[in-house]
Amino acid sequence: MNSKRDLPISTKRLTLRAFRKSDLDAMMAYHALPDVQRYLDWKARDRAEVQTALDAMIKQNRLTRPGDTFHLAVVKTSDDSLIGQISLRWTDATAGQAELRFIFNPAERKQGFATEAVKAAVDHGFEAFHFHRIFARCSGKNEPSARLLKGIGMRLEAHYREHALFQGEWDEELHFAILDREWKPSEVVREFPRKSGTQIARHLVA
Ligand SMILES: CC(C)(COP(=O)(O)OP(=O)(O)OC[C@H]1O[C@@H](n2cnc3c(N)ncnc32)[C@H](O)[C@@H]1OP(=O)(O)O)[C@@H](O)C(=O)NCCC(=O)NCCS
Repeated sequence: MNSKRDLPISTKRLTLRAFRKSDLDAMMAYHALPDVQRYLDWKARDRAEVQTALDAMIKQNRLTRPGDTFHLAVVKTSDDSLIGQISLRWTDATAGQAELRFIFNPAERKQGFATEAVKAAVDHGFEAFHFHRIFARCSGKNEPSARLLKGIGMRLEAHYREHALFQGEWDEELHFAILDREWKPSEVVREFPRKSGTQIARHLVA
């Protein structure tokens, strides 16, 4: 269940699939941009670094233990072009917690693609992985990301003011989250049957 066998996920305009070696050029098109790097706490600027990141992401397609990350390549179904990536990191087994992260090519923004893809990934997190709570962190200055997370129904649970220094300036961090029972499955992906609490725990430790 916790593997790329569940993929691809289809939405109205997009396909979410596992990463492939051939994704390198499309990843380079957005990873190396300062506008993308600005809000990320990891750096992959040149081809060798992006290649290393891609190789790791290809292998990270299962959630077998807490700390594992599941990566999704987001592709426009109309022309099969890679426009971004989403990940779910399993952070806590007994409490069924996972962290959502995403990056999209700036050339493809403001068309609702990121929102559509992130909704499908959250659906997958709750329906296929049976997480209890999915959370996301973003910079207080990252308005597009905060708008997206709020827009899909995630709750702003914390705003850390000047909690750290980042590149010589005070950093603000927003924490968003949503519980499985609060999430309304997206209409753009197929529905899965809901599981009970005990089934969730059993599934996560299986
Ligand atoms: C965060 C990020 C994914 C948001 O991208 P985005 O382009 O704003 O998101 P979408 O593609 O879903 O577009 C939504 C916008 O398009 C508009 N839009 C246009 N056509 C639309 C359509 N058909 N359907 C839905 N929305 C549409 C929406 O109104 C919305 O505008 P608004 O933000 O002014 O309210 C992007 O800025 C990014 O990749 N940033 C760098 C990495 C990053 O910050 N990652 C997050 C770390 S947590």
